[in-house]
Amino acid sequence: MTVRAIVLGAGKGTRMKCDLPKVLHTVAGRPIVDWVVAAVQEAGIDDITVVVGHGAEAVTAALPDGVRSVVQERQGGTGHATRVALEAIGDVTGDTVFVIAGDTPLFRGETLHRMLRAHRGACTVLTTRVPDPTGYGRVVRSGGGVSAIVEERDTDDATRRIDEVAMSTYAFDGTALAAALDKVGTHNDQSEEYLTDVVGILAGSGPVGAFTVDDHRETVGVNSHDQLWEADALMRDRINRHWMEAGVWMQDPATTYLDAAVTLSPGARLYAGVHLEGATTVAAGAVVGPQVFVVDSTIGSGARVWYSVVRHAEVGEQVDVGPFASLRPGTVLRRGAKAGTFVEIKASTVGPDSKVPHLAYIGDATIGEHSNIGAGTITCNFDGYRKHRTVIGDRVFIGSDTMLVAPVEIGDDAVTGAGSVITRDVSPGSLAVERSQQKELPGYAERRARSAESEGE
Ligand code: UD1
Ligand code: CA
Repeated sequence: MTVRAIVLGAGKGTRMKCDLPKVLHTVAGRPIVDWVVAAVQEAGIDDITVVVGHGAEAVTAALPDGVRSVVQERQGGTGHATRVALEAIGDVTGDTVFVIAGDTPLFRGETLHRMLRAHRGACTVLTTRVPDPTGYGRVVRSGGGVSAIVEERDTDDATRRIDEVAMSTYAFDGTALAAALDKVGTHNDQSEEYLTDVVGILAGSGPVGAFTVDDHRETVGVNSHDQLWEADALMRDRINRHWMEAGVWMQDPATTYLDAAVTLSPGARLYAGVHLEGATTVAAGAVVGPQVFVVDSTIGSGARVWYSVVRHAEVGEQVDVGPFASLRPGTVLRRGAKAGTFVEIKASTVGPDSKVPHLAYIGDATIGEHSNIGAGTITCNFDGYRKHRTVIGDRVFIGSDTMLVAPVEIGDDAVTGAGSVITRDVSPGSLAVERSQQKELPGYAERRARSAESEGE
């Protein structure tokens, strides 16, 4: 038996009141439609068709390989969208067709799998009970089965009070679905072809089953920004619990924001206010936070990062970052290195055990091992037209407030004097000082005081 899935994602998401297609809004850093497709795949279905419409190109581009997309030119309703998908798929006689809305990111693959296993006959409707059913299709039951789904706009007082709702998730017998879709009309408040009407049609000729999900938090649909926030909060809670169970310490899960693609090792420690985005990894024994924002970076074991921003960077083992450091793309800090207070580093490698402890800008540079970069040092990498590199060797001592005018190279064991503007290469083992001789004018204070007195007279 072939099982095929149709994901409905053509809607504009009018209630989001913004241009981004609804299903591309992200939950824990991942597009909503991507969550849905992943859950369908986890349920064991690999024939997946996504119906796209608003922002069709962008939505299609966001889909994983091997997932088919079909364009619904005019959004004629969920029934119409399903019909468009069936036309693209072809003959579904004898198949099971699973339909799910593209705006319900919290479904677990395991739940969908259980629903498929429970499915018998022409149709099984996924339902749940919610504290406030407003806006959802109400499930009308008779004799144990489902007899109809009634949309909010089309309810009367009695059906409006029903708290069991349908979640736009169904398993159908393909033959029955195709036949029923042909009979769906547009006699409703929105003059659309409702997929929910298929349920009523099929119930006329045999029992329609219900698969009820106990935890309604799994069924949250995203139609507006407050629902997006709700879905995001639920997903983050799920992700945080997953990592805590895996052995990660979190000081305050309520302020810990981990994207879906983040990987943490058991023994990692996260203080309050940590945001880890993209494909960030944190190794065992690393301590991150408080107040750290990391994007697409790796943090090695035993590293410590606090009050800092780290983007597309590699923080090695036992590395110290912050407080108040900004590591920009292309930064690599090797084992035991340090980027301290008010330090900005970009497209540079800092070698093992080398330190940039305070107030520095390091851009387009390579620093060897065991070197120390004094406070206030700047690599002057930009001449107004082009960027140039600075190369610093091993065991180098860069004096405080050194300007390294790139391109420039400082050899191993070299030293620069504090306040020097270094424009030429420094050979290994040398001291380079670039500043005028210090003058001294004896008795100056006394002379100054005297002239002030005479002015006052
Ligand atoms: C729908 C259901 C409702 C259910 C609710 C749960 C219908 C008529 N109503 O209402 O019973 O309680 O979902 O989430 O089915 N879509 C298309 N093409 C269209 C119209 C919609 O692809 O022409 C897609 C949307 O992008 C969305 C999904 O179908 O992902 C559901 O559409 P939406 O407008 O959100 O329906 P609801 O009003 O939430
Ligand atoms: Ca919806």
